[in-house]
Amino acid sequence: MSRTKNRTALLAALGLIAATGATATALGTASAGAAAAGCKVDYQIANQWNTGFTANVTVTNLGDPVSAWTLGWSYAGDQKVGQGWNATLAQSGAAVTAKNLSYNGALATGGSTSFGFNATYSGTNALPASFTLNGVTCTGSVPPTTPPTTPPTTPPTTPPTTPPPAGTKADNPYAGAKVYVNPEWSAKAAAEPGGTKVSNQPTGVWLDRIAAINGANGSMGLRAHLDEALRQKGSGELVVQLVIYNLPGRDCAALASNGELGPTEIGRYKTEYIDPIAAILADPKYAGLRIVTTVEIDSLPNLVTNVAGRPTETANCNVMKENGNYIKGVGYALAKLGAIPHVYNYVDAGHHGWLGWDSNFGPSAELFKQAATAEGSTVANVHGFIVNTANYSALKEENFKITDSVNGTSVRTSKWIDWNQYTDELSYAQAMRAKLVSLGFDSNLGMLIDTSRNGWGGAQRPTGPGATTSVDTYVNGGRYDRRIHLGNWCNQAGAGLGERPQAAPAAGIDAYVWMKPPGESDGASKEIPNTEGKGFDRMCDPTYTGNPRNGNSMSGALPDAPLSGKWFSAQFQELLKNAHPAL
Ligand code: GLC
Repeated sequence: MSRTKNRTALLAALGLIAATGATATALGTASAGAAAAGCKVDYQIANQWNTGFTANVTVTNLGDPVSAWTLGWSYAGDQKVGQGWNATLAQSGAAVTAKNLSYNGALATGGSTSFGFNATYSGTNALPASFTLNGVTCTGSVPPTTPPTTPPTTPPTTPPTTPPPAGTKADNPYAGAKVYVNPEWSAKAAAEPGGTKVSNQPTGVWLDRIAAINGANGSMGLRAHLDEALRQKGSGELVVQLVIYNLPGRDCAALASNGELGPTEIGRYKTEYIDPIAAILADPKYAGLRIVTTVEIDSLPNLVTNVAGRPTETANCNVMKENGNYIKGVGYALAKLGAIPHVYNYVDAGHHGWLGWDSNFGPSAELFKQAATAEGSTVANVHGFIVNTANYSALKEENFKITDSVNGTSVRTSKWIDWNQYTDELSYAQAMRAKLVSLGFDSNLGMLIDTSRNGWGGAQRPTGPGATTSVDTYVNGGRYDRRIHLGNWCNQAGAGLGERPQAAPAAGIDAYVWMKPPGESDGASKEIPNTEGKGFDRMCDPTYTGNPRNGNSMSGALPDAPLSGKWFSAQFQELLKNAHPAL
């Protein structure tokens, strides 16, 4: 992991999922006046808890093209629609309307669009019984305007429009889907005291070396995971989360997760790592899985933040910038994996405590574009981006905003924020998404946020803003993230499990995921000889007094940690204890 490191695993607890698979499909058509009207609506509960739910709605226009749409439905219960995305929602009593936004009003014949929203409810969350599109009830077909008197004598010359061709990607693969529970992680979690509270959560499967493809040291290989995923899938939809993590000269600014490939070994990366993975994923047997690949954590942004010209430069990052092998590797991986219809590539986009400053934010976004268009890849191979992987940055800091001032002084001048433009991962992810779309990435880009270890709950969690004595008392007294410095990244003391994995939790966010499997170490606290290429990084040593990448602060790391990726029971216990939401 790197300065601001990062990594890890995924979504929706099995129990949660069972409750969230509900869907309503309204098929219908009607003719109104001269224009043929008809529509089909797929209303899915992506996530549901005691008092609320998230719904995703896809509307398909079966009639003549429209330039604007209003979808209407009524609830039988006390459901109240709240924040929405990709539509403007309004509610009067039980009746709800969703209107298009400026960019998604046009629907061709057979065209569809999706929007979502969060809502509250009590009692039973019954699905709406019917929908209208521009006032016409959806029945699933377009009735003829005049009944034919004789059967047609010639077959139609154009095929009927409707269902999307097989292999079409879901806009949000997590919507309405379960997520793969890694049995190996699950068993380790369940063996811990209290661990069964989370052991059925989905986490990422890290392909962190060539041997992991077939299964290193007796552990499950990629095919074994995918076969188990088919079993967990049953007849529903299932997302499998893989971490593609083996670039040459990996993680050039830190030592704990350096990999097996040297800086020049781009050829081996392609032929011994990406090609075999792509061959397995492309097996038609796995075509029914939604395979999310999170592509290369820890590396690309180092080419912006830790190279010549920066006080934080490292010799290894200068080498990787000069040889171009991060860019080539990521471009190659995206092109190869993106060509497989059921693979969804999400590229690592660091986190706010790494890239949130203007000098890093824009240049990193440009770099992602450069990598996404290298080696024959195009931006179409990128389904989205992931932030905070294996890091500890809080999801939402609610006790202060970046625009706040104390006694006329901006909080941006506080020691903690240190001129950053963002205070948390949600605001960072949404802003990075907008920036990437402006650079030419797909306007439907979806973000993932790794919430595996950013809960920061427990007795120490502030319950309100800090004292307004100074910007520092105000920010330090109110912040959930209790790291000594935002640049600390290894086995952080005081951290807790964050939001449970869930689909479509906020605008522009495809899912909260646990990509880093909680309980797996970020790095050893002292030198441990190994054959995995992992070095000793003093950021994992609790006695270390720091370097320019963490403002020369103490590391904040827990003692007695094993090598990165190995089970670290004491950390797992700490994460359970400080979970937020609490377990
Ligand atoms: C670290 C390790 C890697 C492990 C991953 C997930 O990056 O280097 O081996 O798979 O964390 O725990």
